[in-house]
Amino acid sequence: MSKKVRFARPSWRRIGFAALLLAVLAGGVAAYFFCPLPYDRAPALASLDGDPVRGEYIATIGNCAACHTVPGGAPYAGGVKFVTDFGTIYSTNITSDDANGIGGWSFAAFHRALKHGIGDGGEHLYPAFPYTSFSRMTDDDIASLYLYFQTVEPVAEGNRENEMSFPFGYRDLLHFWKRMFHSPRPFTNSPALSSEGNEGAYLVEAVAHCAECHTPRGMLGNANRSRMFQGGTYVDATRRGTYRQWAAVDLTPGAHGLPTWTEQDMDQYLATGINRHAVVHGPMNEVIEATRQLKPADRKAISRYFSELKPSPTRWDLSLPSWGVDDGEVVYTVHCGTCHLPEGDGDPTLGVSLQQNPIIQAEDPSSLINVILYGPDLPPPPFSVDRSQMKPFGRRLSDEDIAALATYLRSNFGNNASSVSASQVVRQR
Ligand code: HEC
Ligand code: HEC
Ligand code: HEC
Repeated sequence: MSKKVRFARPSWRRIGFAALLLAVLAGGVAAYFFCPLPYDRAPALASLDGDPVRGEYIATIGNCAACHTVPGGAPYAGGVKFVTDFGTIYSTNITSDDANGIGGWSFAAFHRALKHGIGDGGEHLYPAFPYTSFSRMTDDDIASLYLYFQTVEPVAEGNRENEMSFPFGYRDLLHFWKRMFHSPRPFTNSPALSSEGNEGAYLVEAVAHCAECHTPRGMLGNANRSRMFQGGTYVDATRRGTYRQWAAVDLTPGAHGLPTWTEQDMDQYLATGINRHAVVHGPMNEVIEATRQLKPADRKAISRYFSELKPSPTRWDLSLPSWGVDDGEVVYTVHCGTCHLPEGDGDPTLGVSLQQNPIIQAEDPSSLINVILYGPDLPPPPFSVDRSQMKPFGRRLSDEDIAALATYLRSNFGNNASSVSASQVVRQR
């Protein structure tokens, strides 16, 4: 016996209604994407509490110099190269030169650049310039920065053309990117933080932009705000002009982040680049160059803020990876244990502790592999550590040895992270 299925015949009226609904929806989506971006106009400079001395301090903590000064070049003359998945971007001249820098910019134009990522000619700027963070600064601080940059020695150096891959050379596309990922909302205090923690939050989130490296990014280069400070990936130029990937580690008090760091540990690290857990090296060198100039109360507020962050969730299961661990243990005992000790607990004069270490446990093992291949790339003087120096192991150990060693470290000494393959080591060579 066959069952008779009755189809309800759609009435014209219903079809008409569905089409109308669709048209309204599509129109709404299009209107959302194409309509002008929210835009707050700059208050008059004279109405703000701008101070060039404060501006110089904000520029130092915001590390404008690290991105706008080429090593050995004139301060703030631009030309620093940024290699992204979308092409190569060069930072611009932000000295007070009228023709090449920002000397001729009005305060309104400067405010619009920091808040909305828009250049003097109205063009969209690439978020390699971290306006996604700077937009959260107070208008007073933006005014202070403006007044300070008016005093920066003019340098007549032209800007370099970016080399973007198709279609990212069209700056207008950034309109849609901003629609999705940039809101120029000012910083507001969070009820989840203490008042000191909120002071630190402002400095970290709006000025020092630690999240630009330490937060994972989505496919379109957007920071994944729901995973704030749970660890990101960063590509940095080497002295030889090549590029190397690094893991900017989890900075939350979660198990893979900094669970053993007290506020004093963070304070000491930001002031001196060294504490009982870690020694600054790699891309953090230029960050510490800025944080060491923080006023003690500001540094303390930042340390408080990190201690009040929500711990990141445990990302991987705690079973040992079976591959490579025994081989890795042998390599460790022969080459590393003398300084970092058999239990990985380290020694103040021989080598830092590798227990519950954020670099070892980072989701992305790049920084760990870099340290083994090239040794820790310590900052230039006046920074100094008075103890044994770790040498590079890139020539002495094979890719397989390093993969096994990294896997061993990631599953021992209280660390827990996925295993490392030889091809991941090859990529970092
Ligand atoms: C992480 C790197 C980075 C940091 C930090 C940074 N900038 Fe930039 N900045 C850039 C890049 C790259 C561009 C060029 C963007 C483009 O071409 O779309 C840029 C562009 C600009 C522009 C637009 C200039 C123009 O000619 O259109 C201004 C203004 C500016 N930066 C000011 C600052 C200030 C002030 C600070 C510090 C508070 C700062 N930048 C910190 C990377 C950075
Ligand atoms: C330009 C990218 C970048 C920025 C900006 C940045 N970091 Fe880092 N950070 C890294 C990388 C990469 C590492 C991994 C260590 C290394 O290889 O340099 C790291 C490591 C760290 C560590 C762990 C150190 C260790 O050895 O265990 C701390 C703590 C830290 N960063 C704090 C901060 C704070 C606080 C800020 C903001 C003031 C900040 N970082 C801004 C890239 C960055
Ligand atoms: C001669 C002593 C010595 C030897 C041998 C040595 N290290 Fe180190 N290691 C250090 C010191 C000291 C530091 C801190 C940076 C510095 O002061 O040079 C360090 C830093 C590190 C770091 C960075 C930790 C952090 O949180 O910043 C890692 C990871 C590391 N070593 C792993 C290894 C591995 C793996 C081996 C074996 C292949 C090894 N080390 C061999 C002395 C040594």
